[in-house]
Amino acid sequence: MKSILKAALSTAFLIAAASSSSAEPAAGKAVFEAKGCAQCHYTDGPAREKTIDDQLAKKGPELWYAGSKFQKGWLAGWLADPKPIRPLKFNSLDEENADDHPKLAGDDAANVTDFLMSLTVDAVEAGVIKPKRNVKGKQIFIKKMPCSGCHQASGRKGKISGGRSGPSLVGAGERLNPDWIYAYLKNPTVFKPVKAMPTFAGILKDKDIKNVATYVSNFKAKKK
Ligand code: HEC
Ligand code: HEC
Repeated sequence: MKSILKAALSTAFLIAAASSSSAEPAAGKAVFEAKGCAQCHYTDGPAREKTIDDQLAKKGPELWYAGSKFQKGWLAGWLADPKPIRPLKFNSLDEENADDHPKLAGDDAANVTDFLMSLTVDAVEAGVIKPKRNVKGKQIFIKKMPCSGCHQASGRKGKISGGRSGPSLVGAGERLNPDWIYAYLKNPTVFKPVKAMPTFAGILKDKDIKNVATYVSNFKAKKK
Protein backbone atom coordinates (compact mmCIF):
# COMPACT_ATOMS: atom_id res chain seq x y z
CA MET A 1 0.00 0.00 0.00
CA LYS A 2 2.73 2.35 1.04
CA SER A 3 4.75 1.66 -2.10
CA ILE A 4 1.73 2.25 -4.36
CA LEU A 5 1.22 5.59 -2.71
CA LYS A 6 4.89 6.36 -3.13
CA ALA A 7 4.77 5.44 -6.83
CA ALA A 8 1.67 7.58 -7.34
CA LEU A 9 3.31 10.50 -5.60
CA SER A 10 6.48 10.25 -7.61
CA THR A 11 4.48 10.04 -10.85
CA ALA A 12 2.62 13.19 -9.83
CA PHE A 13 5.98 14.79 -9.10
CA LEU A 14 7.36 13.81 -12.49
CA ILE A 15 4.31 15.22 -14.28
CA ALA A 16 4.61 18.46 -12.32
CA ALA A 17 8.34 18.66 -13.07
CA ALA A 18 7.80 18.03 -16.77
CA SER A 19 5.08 20.64 -17.08
CA SER A 20 7.17 23.30 -15.40
CA SER A 21 10.07 22.97 -17.85
CA SER A 22 9.82 23.31 -21.60
CA ALA A 23 6.26 22.03 -22.04
CA GLU A 24 4.45 25.37 -21.75
CA PRO A 25 5.18 27.08 -25.07
CA ALA A 26 3.47 24.16 -26.85
CA ALA A 27 0.63 24.13 -24.32
CA GLY A 28 0.35 27.90 -24.66
CA LYS A 29 0.20 27.67 -28.45
CA ALA A 30 -2.69 25.21 -28.16
CA VAL A 31 -4.54 27.55 -25.78
CA PHE A 32 -3.82 30.50 -28.10
CA GLU A 33 -5.51 28.68 -30.95
CA ALA A 34 -8.35 27.17 -28.90
CA LYS A 35 -9.32 30.53 -27.39
CA GLY A 36 -9.49 32.27 -30.76
CA CYS A 37 -6.50 34.56 -30.13
CA ALA A 38 -5.13 33.68 -33.57
CA GLN A 39 -8.24 35.17 -35.20
CA CYS A 40 -7.04 38.63 -34.21
CA HIS A 41 -3.25 38.24 -33.92
CA TYR A 42 -0.49 37.00 -36.21
CA THR A 43 2.18 34.92 -34.51
CA ASP A 44 4.11 34.31 -37.71
CA GLY A 45 6.35 36.90 -39.32
CA PRO A 46 8.09 38.72 -40.77
CA ALA A 47 5.73 41.56 -41.58
CA ARG A 48 7.19 42.17 -45.02
CA GLU A 49 5.86 38.83 -46.22
CA LYS A 50 2.30 40.06 -45.64
CA THR A 51 0.21 42.43 -47.71
CA ILE A 52 -1.54 45.44 -46.24
CA ASP A 53 -4.82 43.53 -46.65
CA ASP A 54 -3.40 40.59 -44.67
CA GLN A 55 -2.42 43.00 -41.91
CA LEU A 56 -5.78 44.73 -41.83
CA ALA A 57 -7.58 41.36 -41.74
CA LYS A 58 -6.49 41.00 -38.10
CA LYS A 59 -8.28 43.06 -35.47
CA GLY A 60 -5.31 43.16 -33.10
CA PRO A 61 -1.58 43.93 -33.18
CA GLU A 62 0.88 41.36 -34.54
CA LEU A 63 2.52 39.18 -31.91
CA TRP A 64 5.20 37.38 -33.96
CA TYR A 65 7.96 39.25 -32.08
CA ALA A 66 6.17 39.35 -28.70
CA GLY A 67 9.10 37.71 -26.88
CA SER A 68 11.41 40.51 -28.03
CA LYS A 69 8.87 43.28 -27.34
CA PHE A 70 7.35 42.59 -23.93
CA GLN A 71 8.56 42.01 -20.40
CA LYS A 72 7.45 38.60 -19.21
CA GLY A 73 6.03 39.73 -15.86
CA TRP A 74 3.93 42.43 -17.49
CA LEU A 75 2.64 40.04 -20.15
CA ALA A 76 1.50 37.40 -17.66
CA GLY A 77 -0.33 40.04 -15.62
CA TRP A 78 -1.94 41.69 -18.63
CA LEU A 79 -3.24 38.45 -20.15
CA ALA A 80 -5.00 37.67 -16.87
CA ASP A 81 -6.33 41.22 -16.47
CA PRO A 82 -6.04 43.26 -19.67
CA LYS A 83 -6.33 47.06 -19.50
CA PRO A 84 -6.40 49.37 -22.55
CA ILE A 85 -2.96 50.18 -24.00
CA ARG A 86 -4.13 52.21 -26.98
CA PRO A 87 -6.56 54.99 -26.01
CA LEU A 88 -8.30 54.47 -29.36
CA LYS A 89 -9.39 51.26 -31.06
CA PHE A 90 -6.53 49.49 -32.86
CA ASN A 91 -6.02 50.93 -36.37
CA SER A 92 -8.68 53.60 -35.83
CA LEU A 93 -8.37 57.34 -35.29
CA ASP A 94 -11.90 58.05 -34.11
CA GLU A 95 -13.32 55.08 -32.18
CA GLU A 96 -12.50 54.64 -28.49
CA ASN A 97 -10.82 51.46 -27.24
CA ALA A 98 -13.78 49.31 -26.11
CA ASP A 99 -11.80 47.86 -23.16
CA ASP A 100 -13.16 44.37 -23.88
CA HIS A 101 -10.02 42.29 -24.50
CA PRO A 102 -10.51 38.55 -23.72
CA LYS A 103 -9.04 37.39 -20.39
CA LEU A 104 -7.10 34.21 -19.65
CA ALA A 105 -7.32 32.47 -16.29
CA GLY A 106 -4.61 30.70 -14.25
CA ASP A 107 -2.50 28.19 -16.15
CA ASP A 108 -3.79 29.44 -19.50
CA ALA A 109 -2.28 32.89 -18.88
CA ALA A 110 1.04 31.37 -17.76
CA ASN A 111 1.25 28.96 -20.69
CA VAL A 112 0.31 31.56 -23.30
CA THR A 113 2.91 33.88 -21.74
CA ASP A 114 5.56 31.20 -22.25
CA PHE A 115 4.41 30.66 -25.82
CA LEU A 116 4.47 34.38 -26.67
CA MET A 117 7.83 34.91 -24.93
CA SER A 118 9.29 32.18 -27.17
CA LEU A 119 8.58 34.35 -30.25
CA THR A 120 11.77 36.38 -30.55
CA VAL A 121 13.47 38.10 -33.49
CA ASP A 122 17.08 38.80 -34.47
CA ALA A 123 16.28 42.45 -35.31
CA VAL A 124 16.41 43.21 -31.57
CA GLU A 125 19.93 43.23 -30.17
CA ALA A 126 20.09 42.53 -26.42
CA GLY A 127 21.84 44.68 -23.83
CA VAL A 128 22.06 47.97 -25.78
CA ILE A 129 19.63 50.17 -23.80
CA LYS A 130 19.76 50.56 -20.02
CA PRO A 131 16.68 52.35 -18.62
CA LYS A 132 17.54 55.51 -16.70
CA ARG A 133 16.78 59.21 -16.53
CA ASN A 134 18.02 60.93 -19.66
CA VAL A 135 17.79 64.71 -20.06
CA LYS A 136 18.48 64.66 -23.80
CA GLY A 137 15.91 61.93 -24.34
CA LYS A 138 13.35 63.94 -22.39
CA GLN A 139 13.99 67.07 -24.48
CA ILE A 140 13.56 65.05 -27.66
CA PHE A 141 10.35 63.41 -26.41
CA ILE A 142 8.74 66.59 -25.11
CA LYS A 143 10.15 69.38 -27.25
CA LYS A 144 12.30 68.52 -30.23
CA MET A 145 10.17 65.76 -31.71
CA PRO A 146 6.39 65.31 -31.82
CA CYS A 147 6.39 62.11 -29.70
CA SER A 148 4.13 63.57 -27.00
CA GLY A 149 1.66 64.73 -29.66
CA CYS A 150 0.78 61.09 -30.32
CA HIS A 151 1.66 59.34 -27.05
CA GLN A 152 0.51 59.73 -23.48
CA ALA A 153 3.14 59.69 -20.77
CA SER A 154 3.07 60.33 -17.07
CA GLY A 155 4.69 63.61 -16.04
CA ARG A 156 5.39 65.34 -12.77
CA LYS A 157 3.21 64.09 -9.87
CA GLY A 158 1.99 61.28 -12.13
CA LYS A 159 -0.20 63.57 -14.22
CA ILE A 160 -0.88 61.93 -17.59
CA SER A 161 -0.70 64.06 -20.69
CA GLY A 162 -0.08 63.67 -24.42
CA GLY A 163 -1.80 62.66 -27.62
CA ARG A 164 -4.07 59.68 -28.12
CA SER A 165 -3.33 58.40 -31.62
CA GLY A 166 -0.44 56.11 -30.58
CA PRO A 167 -0.31 53.53 -27.79
CA SER A 168 -0.05 55.02 -24.30
CA LEU A 169 3.53 54.95 -23.06
CA VAL A 170 2.54 55.27 -19.41
CA GLY A 171 4.40 52.39 -17.75
CA ALA A 172 6.31 51.61 -20.98
CA GLY A 173 9.35 50.77 -18.84
CA GLU A 174 7.40 47.98 -17.18
CA ARG A 175 5.74 46.74 -20.35
CA LEU A 176 8.35 46.98 -23.11
CA ASN A 177 11.85 45.57 -23.57
CA PRO A 178 14.21 48.61 -23.70
CA ASP A 179 16.18 47.06 -26.59
CA TRP A 180 12.95 46.55 -28.55
CA ILE A 181 12.08 50.25 -28.10
CA TYR A 182 15.42 51.18 -29.68
CA ALA A 183 15.08 48.66 -32.53
CA TYR A 184 11.54 49.89 -33.17
CA LEU A 185 12.51 53.57 -33.23
CA LYS A 186 15.33 52.79 -35.65
CA ASN A 187 13.05 50.96 -38.05
CA PRO A 188 9.35 50.80 -37.14
CA THR A 189 8.11 49.35 -40.43
CA VAL A 190 10.01 46.10 -39.83
CA PHE A 191 7.47 45.55 -37.06
CA LYS A 192 4.46 47.61 -38.11
CA PRO A 193 3.96 48.00 -41.84
CA VAL A 194 0.39 49.29 -41.55
CA LYS A 195 -0.05 51.77 -38.75
CA ALA A 196 3.59 52.63 -38.37
CA MET A 197 4.76 55.68 -36.54
CA PRO A 198 6.98 58.14 -38.34
CA THR A 199 10.51 56.84 -38.89
CA PHE A 200 13.03 58.89 -36.96
CA ALA A 201 16.16 57.28 -38.39
CA GLY A 202 17.73 59.99 -40.55
CA ILE A 203 15.95 62.71 -38.56
CA LEU A 204 17.53 61.82 -35.22
CA LYS A 205 21.15 60.73 -34.87
CA ASP A 206 21.62 57.15 -33.68
CA LYS A 207 22.92 58.54 -30.39
CA ASP A 208 19.69 60.49 -29.89
CA ILE A 209 17.51 57.51 -30.81
CA LYS A 210 19.37 55.71 -28.01
CA ASN A 211 18.77 58.69 -25.69
CA VAL A 212 15.03 58.76 -26.29
CA ALA A 213 14.79 54.93 -26.01
CA THR A 214 16.66 55.17 -22.68
CA TYR A 215 14.22 57.86 -21.51
CA VAL A 216 11.05 56.00 -22.57
CA SER A 217 12.26 52.69 -21.15
CA ASN A 218 12.37 54.38 -17.74
CA PHE A 219 8.63 55.29 -17.78
CA LYS A 220 6.84 53.92 -14.73
CA ALA A 221 3.14 53.17 -14.44
CA LYS A 222 1.12 55.92 -12.79
CA LYS A 223 0.98 55.88 -9.02
CA LYS A 224 -2.16 54.33 -7.62
C1 HEC B 1 -11.42 40.25 -31.26
C2 HEC B 1 -9.98 40.40 -31.47
C3 HEC B 1 -9.02 39.91 -30.39
C4 HEC B 1 -8.96 38.66 -29.80
C5 HEC B 1 -9.90 37.48 -29.98
C6 HEC B 1 -7.77 38.70 -28.98
N1 HEC B 1 -7.14 39.91 -29.05
FE1 HEC B 1 -5.39 40.42 -28.20
N2 HEC B 1 -5.62 42.33 -28.82
C7 HEC B 1 -6.66 42.79 -29.62
C8 HEC B 1 -6.58 44.24 -29.72
C9 HEC B 1 -7.55 45.13 -30.48
C10 HEC B 1 -5.46 44.63 -28.94
C11 HEC B 1 -4.98 46.04 -28.62
C12 HEC B 1 -5.50 46.36 -27.22
C13 HEC B 1 -5.07 47.70 -26.64
O1 HEC B 1 -4.24 48.38 -27.24
O2 HEC B 1 -5.55 48.02 -25.54
C14 HEC B 1 -4.86 43.41 -28.42
C15 HEC B 1 -3.69 43.36 -27.68
C16 HEC B 1 -3.06 42.21 -27.29
C17 HEC B 1 -1.75 42.15 -26.71
C18 HEC B 1 -0.81 43.35 -26.53
C19 HEC B 1 -0.19 43.62 -27.89
C20 HEC B 1 0.42 44.97 -28.11
O3 HEC B 1 1.25 45.09 -29.05
O4 HEC B 1 0.07 45.94 -27.43
C21 HEC B 1 -1.49 40.84 -26.42
C22 HEC B 1 -0.23 40.26 -25.81
C23 HEC B 1 -2.68 40.08 -26.81
N3 HEC B 1 -3.60 40.96 -27.34
C24 HEC B 1 -2.85 38.70 -26.64
C25 HEC B 1 -4.04 38.04 -26.90
C26 HEC B 1 -4.32 36.67 -26.50
C27 HEC B 1 -3.37 35.76 -25.78
C28 HEC B 1 -5.60 36.39 -26.91
C29 HEC B 1 -6.41 35.13 -26.69
C30 HEC B 1 -6.81 34.88 -25.32
C31 HEC B 1 -6.11 37.56 -27.60
N4 HEC B 1 -5.15 38.53 -27.56
C32 HEC B 1 -7.35 37.64 -28.19
C33 HEC B 1 -7.61 42.00 -30.23
C34 HEC B 1 -7.89 40.69 -29.91
C1 HEC C 1 2.16 60.85 -35.70
C2 HEC C 1 2.04 60.15 -34.45
C3 HEC C 1 3.29 59.59 -33.79
C4 HEC C 1 4.46 60.26 -33.46
C5 HEC C 1 4.85 61.67 -33.77
C6 HEC C 1 5.25 59.29 -32.70
N1 HEC C 1 4.59 58.11 -32.59
FE1 HEC C 1 5.22 56.47 -31.60
N2 HEC C 1 3.63 55.40 -32.33
C7 HEC C 1 2.63 55.91 -33.12
C8 HEC C 1 1.80 54.82 -33.59
C9 HEC C 1 0.59 54.97 -34.49
C10 HEC C 1 2.35 53.62 -33.04
C11 HEC C 1 1.93 52.16 -33.25
C12 HEC C 1 0.49 51.92 -33.26
C13 HEC C 1 -0.02 50.57 -32.81
O1 HEC C 1 0.72 49.60 -32.65
O2 HEC C 1 -1.23 50.54 -32.57
C14 HEC C 1 3.49 54.04 -32.23
C15 HEC C 1 4.25 53.18 -31.46
C16 HEC C 1 5.27 53.57 -30.61
C17 HEC C 1 5.94 52.72 -29.65
C18 HEC C 1 5.58 51.26 -29.40
C19 HEC C 1 4.45 51.20 -28.41
C20 HEC C 1 3.76 49.86 -28.34
O3 HEC C 1 3.23 49.54 -27.28
O4 HEC C 1 3.72 49.14 -29.36
C21 HEC C 1 6.91 53.49 -29.01
C22 HEC C 1 7.86 53.04 -27.93
C23 HEC C 1 6.85 54.81 -29.60
N3 HEC C 1 5.83 54.85 -30.55
C24 HEC C 1 7.67 55.88 -29.23
C25 HEC C 1 7.69 57.10 -29.90
C26 HEC C 1 8.71 58.11 -29.72
C27 HEC C 1 9.89 58.02 -28.74
C28 HEC C 1 8.42 59.14 -30.57
C29 HEC C 1 9.20 60.41 -30.83
C30 HEC C 1 10.61 60.25 -31.22
C31 HEC C 1 7.17 58.77 -31.26
N4 HEC C 1 6.78 57.54 -30.83
C32 HEC C 1 6.50 59.58 -32.16
C33 HEC C 1 2.43 57.24 -33.40
C34 HEC C 1 3.39 58.24 -33.25
